[in-house]
Amino acid sequence: WKTLDDMDLAGKTVLTRVDINVPMENGVVTDATRIEKIVPTVKDIQARGGKVVLLAHFDRPKGKVVPEMSLGHVQEALAQALGCKVVFGADCMGDVAKAAIAAASPADVVLLENTRFHAGEEKNDADLARAMAELGDVYVNDAFSAAHRAHASTAGIAHLLPSAAGRLMEAELRALESALGKPVRPVVAVVGGAKVSTKLDLLGNLVSKVDHLVIGGGMANTFLVAKGTEVGKSLAERDMAETARAIMAKAGATGCTIHLPLDVVVAREFKAGAANETVATDACPADAMILDAGPATVAALETVFADTKTLIWNGPLGAFEIEPFDAATNAAARSVAALTKAGKLVSVAGGGDTVAALNKAGAAGDFSFISTAGGAFLEWMEGKELPGVAALM
Ligand code: 3PG
Repeated sequence: WKTLDDMDLAGKTVLTRVDINVPMENGVVTDATRIEKIVPTVKDIQARGGKVVLLAHFDRPKGKVVPEMSLGHVQEALAQALGCKVVFGADCMGDVAKAAIAAASPADVVLLENTRFHAGEEKNDADLARAMAELGDVYVNDAFSAAHRAHASTAGIAHLLPSAAGRLMEAELRALESALGKPVRPVVAVVGGAKVSTKLDLLGNLVSKVDHLVIGGGMANTFLVAKGTEVGKSLAERDMAETARAIMAKAGATGCTIHLPLDVVVAREFKAGAANETVATDACPADAMILDAGPATVAALETVFADTKTLIWNGPLGAFEIEPFDAATNAAARSVAALTKAGKLVSVAGGGDTVAALNKAGAAGDFSFISTAGGAFLEWMEGKELPGVAALM
């Protein structure tokens, strides 16, 4: 794929696909990370003499015009982050879009309305892709976190115009390549979260790529059940036990060591501050549930991390949303952050709850790279081709 360095952007209108699908409450952006992350790309295009026209989706309006899902709601936050005027166009194609682009000076940024207001977006409809392509001279995709979608604005349009990856897309791809593509070994993957069933492909791919696989959260319980350990009232997918055994067998064949909890924190209630105790993994009382890994597990992980050169993290190790069941996630994350800061390892994290968990631990700032992607990060870790990236090739 090409980057901005390979493109002549002087005097060009640059259609720039970004992911500004940010969390919002009552019309106010509650986390502007994704907006801040596109600033370097926008500035770079402007410095090269291009006029930036942003294409983006927001939420899931399913091909209908849903006013609460208008990108107009992020116009102000965008202008603030970019420090320039943002001209809003109330459609991502046609005369309305053209008028907005014509009204903007090259120093302004044009933000077009939610691409998903058109049913053709998610169908990767050729007519919609053409109508969007008509608006500009060049296409830049900076939306790694939407690259797992084969949509008109992420994939179709890339075949119609000279195309390149934006700076954020570039950084995401390079970070993932260094973590799983050609990593310095030993490589550790930390995978947590509630369910094995949502991360089957991920686990299956990882055991053939990494040296150590740390399994935490609810999904660790399923592996414990698969090994014949009683887990009381813990969240566990008993019907996935056979699958978990197959993953363990594959790991045995590929030389990947799987790490499950050695001790666990159990409680009778799922609520903050619930009375709890730390027990050996095989000693969960029948009326209790496992809500976190214990200190012996964390100590064992720290020993593994000390010899690690590359670490990739997806998912919390326990019920990190409620204290004190965030302890293992916090301690392990801080340990990875410290080793990263000391230059001992490269750490990459992404996906769903992960960034929230690492932020809560105060550890995110010291990781080598934090992906802005949820689903796309997972699919990449699963070894799948991302249509938005493939279209840039
Ligand atoms: C995300 O938030 O992960 C991306 O913006 C993709 O959104 P989607 O899951 O609605 O396609």
